[in-house]
Amino acid sequence: MRILITGGAGYIGSHTLLEVLTAGHEAHIIDNLSNASPTALDRVKQLANRDFGFTEADIRDRDAVQAAVDDFVPEAVIHFAALKAVGKSVADPLPYFHNNVYGTLVLLDALRASPCRCFAFSSSATVYGDPDYLPIDEAHPLSVTNPYGRTKLQMEGILQDLAHSDPSWSIALLRYFNPVGAHASGRIGEDPNGIPDNLMPFIAQVAVGRRPAVNVFGNDYDTIDGTGVRDYIHVTDVARAHLAAVDWCAAGNGKGRGCEPFNLGTGRGTSVMEMVDAFSRACGKPLPTIMTPRRPGDVATLYADPGKAERVFGWRAELDVDDMCRSSWNWQMHNPQGYDQEP
Ligand code: NAD
Ligand code: UD1
Repeated sequence: MRILITGGAGYIGSHTLLEVLTAGHEAHIIDNLSNASPTALDRVKQLANRDFGFTEADIRDRDAVQAAVDDFVPEAVIHFAALKAVGKSVADPLPYFHNNVYGTLVLLDALRASPCRCFAFSSSATVYGDPDYLPIDEAHPLSVTNPYGRTKLQMEGILQDLAHSDPSWSIALLRYFNPVGAHASGRIGEDPNGIPDNLMPFIAQVAVGRRPAVNVFGNDYDTIDGTGVRDYIHVTDVARAHLAAVDWCAAGNGKGRGCEPFNLGTGRGTSVMEMVDAFSRACGKPLPTIMTPRRPGDVATLYADPGKAERVFGWRAELDVDDMCRSSWNWQMHNPQGYDQEP
């Protein structure tokens, strides 16, 4: 299959690109490298031992996106390109709507004249807001707690309306829980700019000596040890889910499957302290922690019911928290400064 991947140089995109190439598909990337390094693409090329197309452009650049669509003639699109920092979206929301929502509109507009009606979209568990019940299934009510989440909900709505208007579309709304970890090779991984907002890259930077201690945001939640519980999922499992989703879309044989949401999680919750302990085991040393107040907006516990993805397209997560920590450490150890520095 010919698969167009926006944001394919980013964290989840680069892992998905590698799985796509390894599975024998052809790929073309559109990425403006606003939050990615070209080194990630070079390394995917080496690992897959295969080439792919790359348009370095913003998805809001209609001419560039149209040219990529017209030249590559995709059979499926995987749409990762977005801004994703929750805190920044609260401080300055307009770039989030412009980049994420308007960018998606430009991309969909460019697909109008093409035969491609197969689309996998990067959504997020953030669309569930504060959970009413656990585990969270796809029927859980949707709500937003920040502008980033609102962009995801708006884009889901746009895609629902599009599929409703034209029944030839097959659209998978993939709601990721907490993707972490790195490819087993240690050659690609998560490389956040500045101080990591998210737990796993922060722990990894403590382990490699870039930061003194893990700040634990609250130990007075109603959880196993008082710290926040999340459904961490290995990025390789997330990447594989995209292949399964695209296969499901394509297997409609020209008959659209509509627009369906799918949770991508393991169904298991892990607390912050359990994660720190698992990472300590992986890197073979204790990791200092500092208890700090709760982070505003955080909830105690979130985990998925991932059953629908298994029932519908036969995917389930295979890797556990130890795999996540080992692979994350392998990446961080061999790339202590991320992509900026060759090991
Ligand atoms: P990332 O920042 O590593 O990847 C996003 C990629 O998109 C980057 O390569 C960036 O350069 C590119 N990009 C951004 N805006 C663009 C634009 N206007 N034009 C072209 N390229 C653009 O993020 P990620 O963690 O790989 O996330 C991928 C997707 O998954 C995002 O849509 C994100 O919102 C979603 N998501 C991520 C997580 C997570 O924990 N990482 C969780 C839920 C959902
Ligand atoms: C966050 C976003 C979510 C986004 C996801 C992936 C918020 C409120 N939510 O999810 O929308 O989809 O990232 O990008 O930002 N923690 C610490 N110390 C840290 C960092 C985190 O204790 O330095 C704790 C948090 O309180 C939480 C857990 O670790 O309990 C996971 O946090 P994080 O990795 O930021 O993910 P989420 O908050 O679940």
